[in-house]
Amino acid sequence: MSIQQEARRITAPELRARKGKEPIVALTSYHAHTAALLDNYVDFILVGDSLGMVMHGLETTVPVTLDMMILQGHAVMRGSKRALVVVDMPFGSFEASKEDAFRAAARVMKETGCGAIKMEGGAKFADTIRFLTERGVPVMAHIGMTPQSINMLGSFKALGREEKDWAPFLDDARAVAQAGAFSMVVEAVAEPLARKITEEVPIPTIGIGASPACDGQILVLEDMLGLSPKVPKFVKQYGRLAEHIEAAIRDYAREVRSREFPGAANVYPLKAKA
Ligand code: KIV
Repeated sequence: MSIQQEARRITAPELRARKGKEPIVALTSYHAHTAALLDNYVDFILVGDSLGMVMHGLETTVPVTLDMMILQGHAVMRGSKRALVVVDMPFGSFEASKEDAFRAAARVMKETGCGAIKMEGGAKFADTIRFLTERGVPVMAHIGMTPQSINMLGSFKALGREEKDWAPFLDDARAVAQAGAFSMVVEAVAEPLARKITEEVPIPTIGIGASPACDGQILVLEDMLGLSPKVPKFVKQYGRLAEHIEAAIRDYAREVRSREFPGAANVYPLKAKA
């Protein structure tokens, strides 16, 4: 028997039990190598359907397919050992019926090995969340601004700025928690509403553009690293990766053009002629 201890992954029930305790740290990732870098620092990695916009330059997440999610989910599982990996259900994969949702979610879990799925939408998907959780699929809900509904919403602007508008969001939060979701992403809602939701539900709320009042936070990795060309206003940038990448490419291009490029010379130095 090997004496090496395999790192054990954080589970959905463990994340649920963090309600009201140490804040939950999360980031998105779509690749093995970034997943490996995140793994020691985050509680969960979200393979978000934002990959459509971030990796493929799409205008919205609507065109993202289940196959795209599975491919990148698999890469993130390969790159990580410890964090819970949550894979997003893309638009069109779960809305038509709870049976369709189960088939799609089961495919994601079997083919990637991830520990949970995420589904956008509130009260109207409560039956689907219940159906999935009763059949062994841990569900992270996603309420507030739901980018897959962009064609109905019209814009990505923040919601629930006035108390008179809060009722549907509070109903969504209560409904998904009662249906068995183990946590919920709360996106782009005003701080007082995020606070109220967080106080009311027994499961962790994970905010994105929803203030520090939530039980945890998530950001799109490329947005916080300064790699995305367009970044939502609420995102604090912790890096300036686009500038570093461009500077490195500029140096490489200059070296090649000016014949300064070392190529493999430093690996296989030419032997001096006798
Ligand atoms: O797709 C995604 O990356 C997300 C996060 C923004 C929460 O849903």
